[in-house]
Amino acid sequence: MPLIADYKKTQAKEKPTIVAFLCNWCSYAGADAAGTSRFKQPPDVRIIRVPCSGRLDWLIIAKTFKEGADGVLVSGCHPGDCHYTEGNYYARRKLEALKRYLPLFGIEEGRFEYTWVSASEGKRWADVVTEFTEQIHKLGVRKAG
Ligand code: FES
Repeated sequence: MPLIADYKKTQAKEKPTIVAFLCNWCSYAGADAAGTSRFKQPPDVRIIRVPCSGRLDWLIIAKTFKEGADGVLVSGCHPGDCHYTEGNYYARRKLEALKRYLPLFGIEEGRFEYTWVSASEGKRWADVVTEFTEQIHKLGVRKAG
């Protein structure tokens, strides 16, 4: 018996699915600050809060694309500001390697980005997420395959 998720995968999407993984201590708070400061930001980004960008396994990002994401953004604390001291240094290494490998698996350049946004940078978050969302809308929905 087909699952609802399988049924949904067969339906053509009109709008891209954009997922953002944000670390709890900086970027999530930055996104929250953008909201409370009423900075204009795109409504079509699904935000997932993670404890630290360093805890984000690259397999989770690969699976996010496999499950139908058209764009994935990761944001953590600025280098040197990680709540767990060095998590974002590990993240930076992993995410940079992943960014280079994704095109080999059919994920076009520009569909994956990582950045750093602090809790006090609500405006920066609004700018980053707006720019990324526009980029994904230009690239459009990924072709199945
Ligand atoms: Fe934010 Fe580590 S806690 S990147």
